[in-house]
Amino acid sequence: MSITIKTAADIEAMRTACRLASEVLDLLGPHVRPGVTTNELDRIAHDHIVNVQKAIPAPLNYQPPGYKPYPKSICTSVNQVICHGIPSDKPLKNGDIVNLDITVIKDGWHGDTSRMFVVGEGSIAAKRLCALTYDAMWKGILKVKPGARLGDIGNAIQTFVENQGLSVVREFCGHGIGRKFHEEPQILHYGRPGTLDELKPGMVFTIEPMVNAGRREIKEGGDGWTIVTKDRSLSAQWEHTVVVTETGYEVLTLSDGSPPLPDFVTTTRC
Ligand code: MF3
Ligand code: CO
Ligand code: CO
Repeated sequence: MSITIKTAADIEAMRTACRLASEVLDLLGPHVRPGVTTNELDRIAHDHIVNVQKAIPAPLNYQPPGYKPYPKSICTSVNQVICHGIPSDKPLKNGDIVNLDITVIKDGWHGDTSRMFVVGEGSIAAKRLCALTYDAMWKGILKVKPGARLGDIGNAIQTFVENQGLSVVREFCGHGIGRKFHEEPQILHYGRPGTLDELKPGMVFTIEPMVNAGRREIKEGGDGWTIVTKDRSLSAQWEHTVVVTETGYEVLTLSDGSPPLPDFVTTTRC
């Protein structure tokens, strides 16, 4: 297989799926408070996606080769969990950080986005990690335009992150997305400028850096899905789905509740 190029009609359908995914995060945000369980967040998201959006939660029963079916409708990755945390009955507590990762399927098209939330009052270090990881995602997005290469995206993210004394997870990456959840190409969040595939208008992919406060090494959590930091340091992640336009990028996973842009970003579409 190879990298698919989406038509204008495909992209219009993906705008809808992507906006719906972002709107689930808008809905969940006010529920992220001390005492809420991640299972409650999963139920709120599932009910909204199925009954209000008339869409499908893509993670539910998702089974890539070598995995068991994912048992929930969203991913909830708390503190030292890097990604793919499974919702549970454990309540969130003051000072936790949590990534909520939402993927919906609407009319056959996927939209994939995640944000960090700080539960109650977070430490300075926790808030800094979340804010810098958001900025790192945008450093990658700003590289997206025809003629650029995937290595330019990864290098922009890696350089920014490592200059802050943080580390980039290597084992998981962004991905092409469309009628399938995970398509070619892989979007590495590290690399060298001028390397890897050239970007072309109509490519759609996610940029979703995972950034650790400590060392970059990972460890499997034991449930077949959950990935944690080997040194138990905090980890953060943000994710947008973007399309390569004729002149730059368009971020598709936006909604009324999307967080403000970093001060070095002027537009969501160019
Ligand atoms: N949403 C994740 C991503 O950004 C994938 C989660 S797979 C699941 O690629 F099965 F854990 F949901
Ligand atoms: Co993704
Ligand atoms: Co995701």
